[in-house]
Amino acid sequence: MDLELENKSVIVSGGASNIGRAISLGFAAEGARVCVADIDEQQATSLAGLEPEKLTALRTDVTDPASVQATIDSVLREFGAIDVLVNCAGWTVDRLFIEKPREEWEKEIAIDIWGFINFTRGVLDHMIERRSGRVVSIGSDAGRIGEWREAVYSGTKAGVVAMSKAIAREVGRYGITLNVVCPGFTPGRAEESGEGSIWRGEQGSQFDDETLEKVAKSYPLRRLGRPEDIVPVVLLLASERASYVTGQTWSVSGGYTMI
Ligand SMILES: NC(=O)c1ccc[n+]([C@@H]2O[C@H](COP(=O)([O-])OP(=O)(O)OC[C@H]3O[C@@H](n4cnc5c(N)ncnc54)[C@H](O)[C@@H]3O)[C@@H](O)[C@H]2O)c1
Repeated sequence: MDLELENKSVIVSGGASNIGRAISLGFAAEGARVCVADIDEQQATSLAGLEPEKLTALRTDVTDPASVQATIDSVLREFGAIDVLVNCAGWTVDRLFIEKPREEWEKEIAIDIWGFINFTRGVLDHMIERRSGRVVSIGSDAGRIGEWREAVYSGTKAGVVAMSKAIAREVGRYGITLNVVCPGFTPGRAEESGEGSIWRGEQGSQFDDETLEKVAKSYPLRRLGRPEDIVPVVLLLASERASYVTGQTWSVSGGYTMI
């Protein structure tokens, strides 16, 4: 199936490491032009170096509306349009709710909720004017079930699902769709993780190989996710082929949740 993504203009927030990195490379492989909008400038720039014709790195802090707007303006100047926004930037560290410091909740809410709001609001005027657009957001199975040691993070991802549905109702009349793709446990790989990646910090160090093997056994498909597992579903939802799909939540998690 030709997804007709060639020459489409795409922004991937958090596009420099792991899942976002795989998504950025996936769009580039389809011939799209991709802005890797990530706070980790070094990782974004080194990724863009792999496909300089297709990938452009722009340092962006999704929690800061001025930074998001500057990136949107720059993409409109350079690429001439925005066909697709992928909201992928996210942050968490697993910890019991009763043990978690407030600063960590605030960071989760700032990146996972405000990041979605800032970028989605930022691209909509342009998409409404063009009567066309795709917003694909990376949620989480945590947001569907309320994951152990991920209370506020689960809430933020459930928020992304609910906001996507509500906005989808509002902007469907302009040919704009919003959908959410929910990974399960998809550990980052060291060689694909920049300084900004959660897998380089405490989150990564909590999971040694033995623990990861145990977790994998709780998945019907008996393995954990890989960043490239998420890509085909994102590409499909970003394409014209999915023009009649909106407000949906699609888990790509080896059957971890079945809702
Ligand atoms: N990996 C998993 O197990 C998993 C599971 C479910 C959902 N998710 C979601 O998938 C997405 C990607 O996860 P990942 O595992 O690749 O994470 P990651 O930490 O490896 O990558 C996240 C990227 O976001 C960037 N980022 C962080 N804060 C930012 C900010 N303020 N502005 C712009 N960019 C920022 C980081 O620099 C990094 O490149 C996240 O939304 C995450 O919540 C991941």
